[in-house]
Amino acid sequence: MLARAHTFAIDGFQARPVTVEVDVGVGLPDFRIVGLADAGVREARDRVRTAIRKCGYEFPPSRITANLAPGDVRKEGPAFDLAIACAVLAASRQLPAAALDRAVLFGELGLDGAVRASAGTLVAAQGASRAGFEKVIVGAARAREAMLVEGLTVAVAERLQSAVRILHGASADPLPPVPEEDRDRERAPILDLADVYGQRRAVEATVIAAAGAHNILMRGSPGTGKTMLAQRLPSILPPLSHNEALDVLCIHSLGSEDVPDRLEYIRPFRAPHHTVTTAGLIGGARRGWVGEVVLAHHGVLFLDELAEFAPPTLEALRQPLEDGSVTIVRARHNATYPARFMLVLAANPCPCGYADVPGRCRCSPVSLARYRRRLSGPQRDRIDLFPKLSHDEPAMREGRALTSSQRAQQMVMLARERQTARLARHGVTVNAHMDVRLLREYVKLDERGEGMLSLARECGALSVRGAHRALRVARTIADLAGSKRVRDAHVRRALALGPARGLIVGEGEQAERHPRGSRRASTHEPDSAWEAVG
Ligand SMILES: Nc1ncnc2c1ncn2[C@@H]1O[C@H](COP(=O)(O)OP(=O)(O)OP(=O)(O)O)[C@@H](O)[C@H]1O
Ligand SMILES: [Mg+2]
Repeated sequence: MLARAHTFAIDGFQARPVTVEVDVGVGLPDFRIVGLADAGVREARDRVRTAIRKCGYEFPPSRITANLAPGDVRKEGPAFDLAIACAVLAASRQLPAAALDRAVLFGELGLDGAVRASAGTLVAAQGASRAGFEKVIVGAARAREAMLVEGLTVAVAERLQSAVRILHGASADPLPPVPEEDRDRERAPILDLADVYGQRRAVEATVIAAAGAHNILMRGSPGTGKTMLAQRLPSILPPLSHNEALDVLCIHSLGSEDVPDRLEYIRPFRAPHHTVTTAGLIGGARRGWVGEVVLAHHGVLFLDELAEFAPPTLEALRQPLEDGSVTIVRARHNATYPARFMLVLAANPCPCGYADVPGRCRCSPVSLARYRRRLSGPQRDRIDLFPKLSHDEPAMREGRALTSSQRAQQMVMLARERQTARLARHGVTVNAHMDVRLLREYVKLDERGEGMLSLARECGALSVRGAHRALRVARTIADLAGSKRVRDAHVRRALALGPARGLIVGEGEQAERHPRGSRRASTHEPDSAWEAVG
Protein backbone atom coordinates (compact mmCIF):
# COMPACT_ATOMS: atom_id res chain seq x y z
CA MET A 1 0.00 0.00 0.00
CA LEU A 2 1.10 3.58 -0.66
CA ALA A 3 0.87 6.38 1.94
CA ARG A 4 1.91 10.03 1.87
CA ALA A 5 3.09 12.35 4.66
CA HIS A 6 3.98 16.03 4.39
CA THR A 7 7.09 17.79 5.59
CA PHE A 8 9.49 20.56 4.53
CA ALA A 9 13.11 20.69 3.40
CA ILE A 10 15.10 23.71 4.53
CA ASP A 11 17.00 25.13 1.57
CA GLY A 12 19.06 28.13 2.69
CA PHE A 13 16.42 30.46 4.09
CA GLN A 14 13.49 28.80 2.33
CA ALA A 15 11.18 25.98 3.27
CA ARG A 16 10.37 23.74 0.32
CA PRO A 17 7.38 21.37 0.56
CA VAL A 18 8.33 17.70 0.51
CA THR A 19 5.95 14.75 0.21
CA VAL A 20 7.19 11.51 1.72
CA GLU A 21 5.69 8.66 -0.31
CA VAL A 22 6.09 5.24 1.26
CA ASP A 23 5.27 2.03 -0.52
CA VAL A 24 5.16 -1.25 1.36
CA GLY A 25 5.36 -3.88 -1.37
CA VAL A 26 5.99 -7.54 -1.87
CA GLY A 27 9.57 -8.74 -1.85
CA LEU A 28 12.50 -9.50 0.35
CA PRO A 29 12.69 -7.21 3.45
CA ASP A 30 14.41 -4.00 2.43
CA PHE A 31 14.10 -0.30 3.32
CA ARG A 32 15.28 2.34 0.84
CA ILE A 33 15.11 6.10 0.89
CA VAL A 34 15.34 7.83 -2.49
CA GLY A 35 14.83 11.40 -3.79
CA LEU A 36 18.02 13.49 -3.64
CA ALA A 37 18.54 12.66 0.04
CA ASP A 38 21.97 13.23 1.59
CA ALA A 39 23.76 10.72 3.80
CA GLY A 40 22.13 12.25 6.92
CA VAL A 41 18.66 11.58 5.55
CA ARG A 42 19.55 8.03 4.48
CA GLU A 43 20.60 7.33 8.07
CA ALA A 44 16.92 7.82 8.90
CA ARG A 45 16.44 4.16 7.88
CA ASP A 46 18.08 2.87 11.04
CA ARG A 47 16.48 5.46 13.33
CA VAL A 48 12.98 4.98 11.90
CA ARG A 49 13.16 1.18 11.92
CA THR A 50 14.33 0.99 15.54
CA ALA A 51 12.00 3.75 16.79
CA ILE A 52 8.94 2.07 15.23
CA ARG A 53 9.81 -1.23 16.92
CA LYS A 54 10.69 0.34 20.29
CA CYS A 55 7.33 2.16 20.34
CA GLY A 56 5.47 -1.15 20.02
CA TYR A 57 4.49 -0.91 16.34
CA GLU A 58 5.37 -3.41 13.67
CA PHE A 59 8.07 -2.60 11.16
CA PRO A 60 6.75 -4.44 8.10
CA PRO A 61 9.09 -7.25 7.00
CA SER A 62 8.56 -6.26 3.34
CA ARG A 63 10.17 -4.28 0.57
CA ILE A 64 9.72 -0.63 1.66
CA THR A 65 10.56 2.35 -0.51
CA ALA A 66 10.37 5.90 0.81
CA ASN A 67 10.51 8.54 -1.91
CA LEU A 68 11.07 12.14 -0.88
CA ALA A 69 9.45 14.20 -3.63
CA PRO A 70 10.12 16.41 -5.54
CA GLY A 71 13.35 14.76 -6.61
CA ASP A 72 15.05 18.00 -7.59
CA VAL A 73 14.99 19.52 -4.07
CA ARG A 74 17.99 18.59 -1.99
CA LYS A 75 17.11 17.02 1.38
CA GLU A 76 19.55 17.36 4.23
CA GLY A 77 19.48 16.57 7.93
CA PRO A 78 17.40 14.43 10.22
CA ALA A 79 14.11 16.40 10.29
CA PHE A 80 12.41 13.98 7.85
CA ASP A 81 12.39 11.07 10.36
CA LEU A 82 8.96 11.75 11.85
CA ALA A 83 7.26 12.07 8.46
CA ILE A 84 8.96 8.92 7.14
CA ALA A 85 7.99 6.92 10.25
CA CYS A 86 4.34 8.04 10.12
CA ALA A 87 4.15 7.28 6.38
CA VAL A 88 5.55 3.77 7.04
CA LEU A 89 2.89 3.24 9.73
CA ALA A 90 0.14 4.46 7.38
CA ALA A 91 1.42 2.34 4.48
CA SER A 92 1.32 -0.71 6.75
CA ARG A 93 -2.24 0.15 7.93
CA GLN A 94 -1.24 0.99 11.49
CA LEU A 95 -2.48 4.56 10.99
CA PRO A 96 -5.29 5.82 8.71
CA ALA A 97 -3.62 7.25 5.58
CA ALA A 98 -6.14 10.12 5.43
CA ALA A 99 -4.92 11.33 8.86
CA LEU A 100 -1.69 12.48 7.20
CA ASP A 101 -3.37 14.72 4.64
CA ARG A 102 -3.57 18.01 6.48
CA ALA A 103 -0.65 17.92 8.93
CA VAL A 104 3.03 18.66 8.52
CA LEU A 105 5.46 16.47 10.47
CA PHE A 106 8.87 17.91 11.27
CA GLY A 107 11.36 16.33 13.65
CA GLU A 108 14.11 13.81 14.25
CA LEU A 109 13.54 10.46 15.97
CA GLY A 110 15.67 8.96 18.69
CA LEU A 111 16.13 5.18 18.71
CA ASP A 112 13.65 4.98 21.63
CA GLY A 113 11.00 6.87 19.65
CA ALA A 114 11.54 10.27 21.28
CA VAL A 115 10.91 13.22 18.93
CA ARG A 116 13.80 15.66 18.85
CA ALA A 117 13.10 19.19 17.69
CA SER A 118 15.01 20.12 14.53
CA ALA A 119 16.79 23.28 13.43
CA GLY A 120 14.63 25.32 11.07
CA THR A 121 11.33 24.53 12.83
CA LEU A 122 10.14 28.14 12.50
CA VAL A 123 11.06 28.24 8.80
CA ALA A 124 9.18 24.96 8.24
CA ALA A 125 6.16 26.25 10.19
CA GLN A 126 6.07 29.39 8.04
CA GLY A 127 6.26 27.21 4.93
CA ALA A 128 3.42 25.05 6.27
CA SER A 129 1.24 28.07 6.89
CA ARG A 130 1.96 29.48 3.44
CA ALA A 131 1.15 26.14 1.81
CA GLY A 132 -2.26 26.11 3.54
CA PHE A 133 -1.66 23.40 6.15
CA GLU A 134 -3.61 23.70 9.39
CA LYS A 135 -1.36 21.81 11.74
CA VAL A 136 2.31 21.09 12.33
CA ILE A 137 3.52 18.35 14.64
CA VAL A 138 6.93 19.14 16.09
CA GLY A 139 9.27 18.28 18.97
CA ALA A 140 8.69 20.06 22.28
CA ALA A 141 11.93 22.06 22.45
CA ARG A 142 11.14 24.23 19.44
CA ALA A 143 7.35 24.29 19.56
CA ARG A 144 7.26 27.83 20.93
CA GLU A 145 9.02 29.25 17.89
CA ALA A 146 6.53 27.51 15.56
CA MET A 147 3.70 29.06 17.60
CA LEU A 148 4.79 32.52 16.47
CA VAL A 149 3.34 31.77 13.04
CA GLU A 150 -0.20 33.08 13.03
CA GLY A 151 -3.11 30.84 12.04
CA LEU A 152 -1.25 27.55 12.48
CA THR A 153 -2.02 24.88 15.09
CA VAL A 154 1.19 23.63 16.65
CA ALA A 155 0.98 20.20 18.26
CA VAL A 156 3.79 18.99 20.51
CA ALA A 157 4.80 15.35 20.16
CA GLU A 158 7.29 14.12 22.73
CA ARG A 159 7.36 10.65 21.21
CA LEU A 160 6.34 8.82 18.03
CA GLN A 161 3.28 7.40 19.86
CA SER A 162 2.18 10.99 20.68
CA ALA A 163 2.38 11.93 16.98
CA VAL A 164 0.24 8.87 16.09
CA ARG A 165 -2.27 9.80 18.81
CA ILE A 166 -2.44 13.41 17.53
CA LEU A 167 -3.03 12.16 13.98
CA HIS A 168 -5.87 10.03 15.35
CA GLY A 169 -7.43 13.20 16.72
CA ALA A 170 -6.26 13.09 20.35
CA SER A 171 -4.78 16.14 22.06
CA ALA A 172 -1.10 17.03 21.84
CA ASP A 173 1.48 16.67 24.60
CA PRO A 174 1.73 19.68 26.93
CA LEU A 175 4.10 22.46 26.05
CA PRO A 176 7.12 22.29 28.36
CA PRO A 177 7.53 25.24 30.75
CA VAL A 178 9.98 27.95 29.76
CA PRO A 179 13.30 26.99 31.40
CA GLU A 180 14.02 29.02 34.51
CA GLU A 181 17.26 30.45 33.12
CA ASP A 182 15.44 31.69 29.95
CA ARG A 183 12.78 33.44 31.99
CA ASP A 184 15.36 35.18 34.11
CA ARG A 185 17.69 35.91 31.23
CA GLU A 186 18.62 39.54 31.47
CA ARG A 187 18.31 41.46 28.28
CA ALA A 188 21.39 43.40 27.32
CA PRO A 189 20.93 46.96 28.58
CA ILE A 190 20.06 49.41 25.85
CA LEU A 191 22.82 51.96 25.67
CA ASP A 192 21.92 55.62 25.26
CA LEU A 193 23.46 58.35 23.10
CA ALA A 194 23.15 60.61 26.13
CA ASP A 195 26.29 58.87 27.47
CA VAL A 196 28.41 60.22 24.61
CA TYR A 197 30.00 63.58 25.25
CA GLY A 198 30.56 65.89 22.32
CA GLN A 199 31.65 64.35 19.00
CA ARG A 200 29.25 66.56 17.11
CA ARG A 201 30.32 65.36 13.67
CA ALA A 202 30.35 61.66 14.56
CA VAL A 203 27.00 61.79 16.39
CA GLU A 204 25.48 63.59 13.44
CA ALA A 205 26.91 61.04 10.98
CA THR A 206 25.60 58.21 13.15
CA VAL A 207 22.09 59.68 13.10
CA ILE A 208 22.28 60.17 9.31
CA ALA A 209 23.54 56.61 8.90
CA ALA A 210 20.66 55.28 11.00
CA ALA A 211 18.10 57.39 9.14
CA GLY A 212 19.09 56.24 5.64
CA ALA A 213 20.70 52.85 6.50
CA HIS A 214 24.03 54.12 5.20
CA ASN A 215 27.38 52.42 5.73
CA ILE A 216 29.73 54.37 7.96
CA LEU A 217 33.40 54.32 8.93
CA MET A 218 34.37 56.12 12.14
CA ARG A 219 37.94 57.19 12.38
CA GLY A 220 39.62 58.57 15.48
CA SER A 221 42.27 58.23 18.16
CA PRO A 222 41.91 55.59 20.88
CA GLY A 223 39.33 56.37 23.54
CA THR A 224 37.39 58.99 21.59
CA GLY A 225 34.12 57.04 21.59
CA LYS A 226 34.01 55.09 18.29
CA THR A 227 32.97 51.82 19.90
CA MET A 228 30.59 53.68 22.23
CA LEU A 229 28.80 55.33 19.33
CA ALA A 230 28.50 52.16 17.27
CA GLN A 231 27.07 50.25 20.22
CA ARG A 232 24.35 52.88 20.55
CA LEU A 233 23.08 52.45 17.00
CA PRO A 234 20.38 49.88 17.89
CA SER A 235 18.92 52.44 20.32
CA ILE A 236 18.26 54.96 17.55
CA LEU A 237 17.26 52.61 14.72
CA PRO A 238 13.54 52.08 14.17
CA PRO A 239 12.24 48.87 15.74
CA LEU A 240 11.82 45.84 13.49
CA SER A 241 8.44 45.34 11.85
CA HIS A 242 6.59 42.10 12.68
CA ASN A 243 7.77 40.45 9.45
CA GLU A 244 11.35 41.60 9.94
CA ALA A 245 11.33 40.26 13.51
CA LEU A 246 10.09 36.91 12.17
CA ASP A 247 12.91 36.92 9.57
CA VAL A 248 15.46 37.51 12.32
CA LEU A 249 14.02 34.67 14.40
CA CYS A 250 13.97 32.37 11.34
CA ILE A 251 17.68 32.99 10.88
CA HIS A 252 18.33 31.95 14.48
CA SER A 253 16.01 28.98 13.97
CA LEU A 254 18.29 27.70 11.18
CA GLY A 255 21.13 27.26 13.66
CA SER A 256 21.23 24.75 16.43
CA GLU A 257 21.43 27.28 19.25
CA ASP A 258 18.46 28.22 21.43
CA VAL A 259 15.89 30.41 19.77
CA PRO A 260 14.05 33.05 21.79
CA ASP A 261 10.41 32.07 22.31
CA ARG A 262 9.12 35.55 21.60
CA LEU A 263 9.74 38.14 18.95
CA GLU A 264 12.39 40.76 19.67
CA TYR A 265 11.89 44.08 17.94
CA ILE A 266 15.33 45.58 18.57
CA ARG A 267 17.48 45.40 15.46
CA PRO A 268 20.30 42.85 15.51
CA PHE A 269 23.76 44.20 16.33
CA ARG A 270 26.60 41.86 15.45
CA ALA A 271 30.15 42.76 16.37
CA PRO A 272 32.42 39.82 15.42
CA HIS A 273 35.95 39.89 16.78
CA HIS A 274 38.68 40.78 14.29
CA THR A 275 39.98 37.19 14.38
CA VAL A 276 36.76 36.01 12.70
CA THR A 277 37.36 33.74 9.71
CA THR A 278 35.79 34.28 6.30
CA ALA A 279 33.50 31.30 6.95
CA GLY A 280 32.53 32.78 10.32
CA LEU A 281 31.69 36.09 8.69
CA ILE A 282 29.98 34.80 5.57
CA GLY A 283 28.84 31.33 6.68
CA GLY A 284 29.00 27.90 5.17
CA ALA A 285 31.46 26.10 7.42
CA ARG A 286 28.84 23.37 7.81
CA ARG A 287 25.13 22.81 7.32
CA GLY A 288 22.96 25.38 9.02
CA TRP A 289 25.97 27.53 9.92
CA VAL A 290 24.97 31.05 9.12
CA GLY A 291 27.63 33.74 9.13
CA GLU A 292 27.70 37.07 10.92
CA VAL A 293 26.46 38.89 7.79
CA VAL A 294 23.27 36.81 7.90
CA LEU A 295 22.84 37.20 11.66
CA ALA A 296 23.11 40.96 11.07
CA HIS A 297 20.22 40.91 8.54
CA HIS A 298 17.88 43.88 9.14
CA GLY A 299 20.41 45.26 11.62
CA VAL A 300 24.01 46.34 12.05
CA LEU A 301 27.31 44.58 11.31
CA PHE A 302 29.99 46.35 13.33
CA LEU A 303 33.65 45.67 12.57
CA ASP A 304 35.65 47.34 15.31
CA GLU A 305 39.42 47.81 14.90
CA LEU A 306 39.04 47.50 11.13
CA ALA A 307 42.75 47.35 10.37
CA GLU A 308 43.06 44.12 12.37
CA PHE A 309 40.70 42.14 10.12
CA ALA A 310 42.29 39.87 7.49
CA PRO A 311 42.00 41.57 4.07
CA PRO A 312 40.46 38.47 2.37
CA THR A 313 37.78 38.39 5.07
CA LEU A 314 36.90 42.03 4.39
CA GLU A 315 36.97 41.34 0.66
CA ALA A 316 34.31 38.64 1.14
CA LEU A 317 31.91 41.34 2.33
CA ARG A 318 31.60 42.75 -1.16
CA GLN A 319 28.95 40.36 -2.46
CA PRO A 320 26.56 40.67 0.51
CA LEU A 321 27.03 44.45 0.51
CA GLU A 322 26.13 44.60 -3.15
CA ASP A 323 23.31 42.05 -3.25
CA GLY A 324 21.81 42.13 0.25
CA SER A 325 22.15 38.36 0.30
CA VAL A 326 24.89 35.78 0.49
CA THR A 327 25.24 32.60 -1.52
CA ILE A 328 27.22 29.81 0.03
CA VAL A 329 28.66 27.34 -2.40
CA ARG A 330 28.95 23.83 -1.06
CA ALA A 331 30.08 20.62 -2.75
CA ARG A 332 27.02 20.07 -4.89
CA HIS A 333 24.64 22.72 -3.79
CA ASN A 334 24.31 26.48 -3.27
CA ALA A 335 22.30 28.00 -0.47
CA THR A 336 21.22 31.64 -0.39
CA TYR A 337 20.52 33.60 2.77
CA PRO A 338 19.39 37.19 3.26
CA ALA A 339 22.11 39.58 4.45
CA ARG A 340 20.95 43.18 4.25
CA PHE A 341 22.68 45.07 7.00
CA MET A 342 24.20 48.44 7.78
CA LEU A 343 27.98 48.19 7.82
CA VAL A 344 29.63 50.13 10.62
CA LEU A 345 33.42 50.26 10.75
CA ALA A 346 35.76 51.80 13.30
CA ALA A 347 39.46 52.44 12.81
CA ASN A 348 42.32 54.36 14.29
CA PRO A 349 43.88 56.88 11.92
CA CYS A 350 47.28 55.14 11.93
CA PRO A 351 49.03 52.14 13.55
CA CYS A 352 49.92 54.06 16.72
CA GLY A 353 46.48 55.63 16.76
CA TYR A 354 47.50 59.26 17.27
CA ALA A 355 47.88 60.71 13.77
CA ASP A 356 45.16 63.23 14.66
CA VAL A 357 46.97 64.50 17.75
CA PRO A 358 49.60 67.09 16.80
CA GLY A 359 53.13 65.93 17.55
CA ARG A 360 52.14 62.55 18.99
CA CYS A 361 52.23 60.19 15.99
CA ARG A 362 55.41 58.12 15.66
CA CYS A 363 54.41 56.05 12.61
CA SER A 364 56.81 55.75 9.67
CA PRO A 365 55.55 56.67 6.19
CA VAL A 366 55.91 53.01 5.16
CA SER A 367 53.77 51.70 8.01
CA LEU A 368 51.24 54.47 7.33
CA ALA A 369 51.03 53.54 3.66
CA ARG A 370 50.59 49.86 4.54
CA TYR A 371 47.90 50.76 7.05
CA ARG A 372 45.94 52.79 4.51
CA ARG A 373 45.92 49.91 2.08
CA ARG A 374 44.04 47.67 4.53
CA LEU A 375 40.75 48.85 3.07
CA SER A 376 40.76 48.50 -0.70
CA GLY A 377 39.42 51.18 -3.04
CA PRO A 378 36.32 49.16 -4.00
CA GLN A 379 35.54 48.56 -0.32
CA ARG A 380 35.95 52.23 0.48
CA ASP A 381 33.61 53.00 -2.39
CA ARG A 382 30.84 51.14 -0.57
CA ILE A 383 30.98 53.40 2.46
CA ASP A 384 28.87 56.54 2.60
CA LEU A 385 29.97 58.37 5.73
CA PHE A 386 33.48 58.86 7.10
CA PRO A 387 33.20 60.93 10.27
CA LYS A 388 36.42 61.78 12.06
CA LEU A 389 36.18 61.78 15.82
CA SER A 390 37.76 64.65 17.61
CA HIS A 391 40.35 63.94 20.32
CA ASP A 392 39.52 67.13 22.13
CA GLU A 393 36.33 69.13 21.88
CA PRO A 394 34.77 71.60 24.34
CA ALA A 395 31.63 69.49 24.84
CA MET A 396 33.80 66.47 25.64
CA ARG A 397 35.78 68.39 28.22
CA GLU A 398 32.56 69.73 29.76
CA GLY A 399 30.89 66.30 29.74
CA ARG A 400 28.01 67.53 27.59
CA ALA A 401 25.97 65.14 25.42
CA LEU A 402 24.48 66.48 22.19
CA THR A 403 21.34 64.39 22.12
CA SER A 404 19.63 61.39 23.64
CA SER A 405 18.73 58.12 21.95
CA GLN A 406 15.04 58.91 22.33
CA ARG A 407 15.34 62.22 20.52
CA ALA A 408 17.61 60.82 17.83
CA GLN A 409 15.30 57.85 17.27
CA GLN A 410 12.33 60.18 16.79
CA MET A 411 14.26 62.05 14.09
CA VAL A 412 15.31 58.79 12.46
CA MET A 413 11.75 57.45 12.46
CA LEU A 414 10.37 60.63 10.89
CA ALA A 415 13.05 60.54 8.21
CA ARG A 416 12.29 56.87 7.55
CA GLU A 417 8.57 57.62 7.20
CA ARG A 418 9.41 60.22 4.55
CA GLN A 419 11.61 57.72 2.70
CA THR A 420 9.00 54.96 2.84
CA ALA A 421 6.27 57.28 1.58
CA ARG A 422 8.45 58.16 -1.40
CA LEU A 423 10.06 54.81 -2.17
CA ALA A 424 7.73 52.01 -1.00
CA ARG A 425 6.04 51.72 -4.39
CA HIS A 426 9.44 50.93 -5.87
CA GLY A 427 9.99 48.15 -3.33
CA VAL A 428 12.63 50.17 -1.45
CA THR A 429 12.32 51.57 2.07
CA VAL A 430 15.56 53.46 2.70
CA ASN A 431 17.65 55.94 0.72
CA ALA A 432 20.77 53.75 0.88
CA HIS A 433 19.02 51.20 -1.35
CA MET A 434 18.00 53.65 -4.10
CA ASP A 435 19.35 52.62 -7.50
CA VAL A 436 20.57 55.11 -10.09
CA ARG A 437 17.11 55.37 -11.67
CA LEU A 438 15.52 56.30 -8.33
CA LEU A 439 18.37 58.74 -7.65
CA ARG A 440 17.62 60.49 -10.92
CA GLU A 441 13.95 60.68 -10.06
CA TYR A 442 14.16 61.76 -6.44
CA VAL A 443 17.44 63.61 -6.01
CA LYS A 444 17.31 66.63 -8.28
CA LEU A 445 19.93 69.18 -7.34
CA ASP A 446 19.83 72.89 -7.91
CA GLU A 447 22.66 74.59 -9.79
CA ARG A 448 24.78 75.19 -6.69
CA GLY A 449 24.39 71.62 -5.52
CA GLU A 450 25.37 70.30 -8.97
CA GLY A 451 28.36 72.64 -9.01
CA MET A 452 29.58 71.40 -5.67
CA LEU A 453 29.34 67.78 -6.74
CA SER A 454 31.14 68.34 -10.05
CA LEU A 455 33.91 70.19 -8.24
CA ALA A 456 34.41 67.24 -5.89
CA ARG A 457 34.50 64.92 -8.94
CA GLU A 458 36.98 67.14 -10.76
CA CYS A 459 39.24 67.18 -7.72
CA GLY A 460 39.38 63.40 -7.97
CA ALA A 461 37.88 63.14 -4.50
CA LEU A 462 34.81 61.24 -5.73
CA SER A 463 34.29 58.36 -8.15
CA VAL A 464 30.99 58.08 -10.03
CA ARG A 465 29.80 55.59 -7.43
CA GLY A 466 31.06 57.94 -4.71
CA ALA A 467 28.98 60.75 -6.21
CA HIS A 468 25.90 58.53 -6.14
CA ARG A 469 26.61 57.73 -2.52
CA ALA A 470 26.88 61.44 -1.71
CA LEU A 471 23.50 61.98 -3.38
CA ARG A 472 21.88 59.27 -1.27
CA VAL A 473 23.34 60.78 1.90
CA ALA A 474 22.23 64.26 0.83
CA ARG A 475 18.70 62.89 0.33
CA THR A 476 18.77 61.47 3.88
CA ILE A 477 20.02 64.78 5.31
CA ALA A 478 17.14 66.53 3.52
CA ASP A 479 14.72 63.94 4.95
CA LEU A 480 16.06 64.53 8.46
CA ALA A 481 15.60 68.26 7.95
CA GLY A 482 12.05 67.68 6.63
CA SER A 483 12.93 69.20 3.26
CA LYS A 484 11.19 67.95 0.13
CA ARG A 485 14.03 69.19 -2.05
CA VAL A 486 17.71 68.38 -1.71
CA ARG A 487 19.36 71.77 -1.24
CA ASP A 488 22.99 72.76 -1.66
CA ALA A 489 23.45 72.81 2.13
CA HIS A 490 22.48 69.12 2.22
CA VAL A 491 24.95 68.28 -0.56
CA ARG A 492 27.68 70.26 1.21
CA ARG A 493 27.04 68.33 4.41
CA ALA A 494 27.01 64.99 2.61
CA LEU A 495 30.37 65.84 1.00
CA ALA A 496 31.83 67.01 4.29
CA LEU A 497 30.97 63.67 5.88
CA GLY A 498 31.87 61.60 2.82
CA PRO A 499 35.10 60.13 1.43
CA ALA A 500 36.25 63.53 0.23
CA ARG A 501 36.99 64.13 3.89
CA GLY A 502 39.46 61.29 3.83
CA LEU A 503 39.71 57.86 5.25
CA ILE A 504 42.68 56.58 7.12
CA VAL A 505 45.07 59.47 7.64
CA GLY A 506 43.16 62.15 5.84
CA GLU A 507 43.67 61.55 2.15
CA GLY A 508 40.60 63.66 1.65
CA GLU A 509 42.08 66.49 3.64
CA GLN A 510 45.05 66.42 1.28
CA ALA A 511 42.62 66.58 -1.63
CA GLU A 512 41.04 69.51 0.05
CA ARG A 513 44.36 71.27 0.54
CA HIS A 514 45.64 70.51 -2.95
CA PRO A 515 42.73 70.41 -5.32
CA ARG A 516 43.58 70.20 -8.97
CA GLY A 517 44.03 73.72 -10.31
CA SER A 518 43.55 76.63 -8.00
CA ARG A 519 39.98 75.82 -6.98
CA ARG A 520 39.20 74.44 -3.59
CA ALA A 521 36.62 71.71 -3.04
CA SER A 522 34.12 73.32 -0.77
CA THR A 523 33.60 70.58 1.78
CA HIS A 524 33.78 72.88 4.77
CA GLU A 525 31.29 72.24 7.49
CA PRO A 526 28.81 74.91 8.40
CA ASP A 527 29.32 76.22 11.93
CA SER A 528 25.99 74.84 12.95
CA ALA A 529 26.79 71.29 11.91
CA TRP A 530 24.30 69.61 14.20
CA GLU A 531 21.61 72.08 13.23
CA ALA A 532 22.05 71.08 9.58
CA VAL A 533 20.36 67.88 10.67
CA GLY A 534 18.33 68.87 13.66
N1 LIG B 1 32.95 60.95 23.60
C1 LIG B 1 32.93 60.30 24.75
N2 LIG B 1 31.98 60.54 25.66
C2 LIG B 1 31.95 59.88 26.84
N3 LIG B 1 32.84 58.93 27.16
C3 LIG B 1 33.80 58.62 26.30
C4 LIG B 1 33.89 59.28 25.04
N4 LIG B 1 34.94 58.76 24.38
C5 LIG B 1 35.47 57.83 25.16
N5 LIG B 1 34.80 57.72 26.31
C6 LIG B 1 35.14 56.81 27.43
O1 LIG B 1 36.22 56.03 27.01
C7 LIG B 1 35.88 54.65 26.95
C8 LIG B 1 36.43 54.07 25.67
O2 LIG B 1 35.70 54.57 24.58
P1 LIG B 1 35.59 53.76 23.24
O3 LIG B 1 35.83 52.32 23.50
O4 LIG B 1 34.33 54.11 22.57
O5 LIG B 1 36.82 54.37 22.45
P2 LIG B 1 37.32 54.02 21.00
O6 LIG B 1 37.32 55.26 20.23
O7 LIG B 1 36.55 52.87 20.47
O8 LIG B 1 38.83 53.60 21.28
P3 LIG B 1 39.76 52.49 20.60
O9 LIG B 1 40.31 53.11 19.35
O10 LIG B 1 40.83 52.23 21.58
O11 LIG B 1 38.92 51.31 20.33
C9 LIG B 1 34.37 54.60 27.02
O12 LIG B 1 33.92 53.46 27.67
C10 LIG B 1 34.02 55.85 27.77
O13 LIG B 1 34.07 55.60 29.14
MG1 LIG C 1 37.02 50.94 20.10
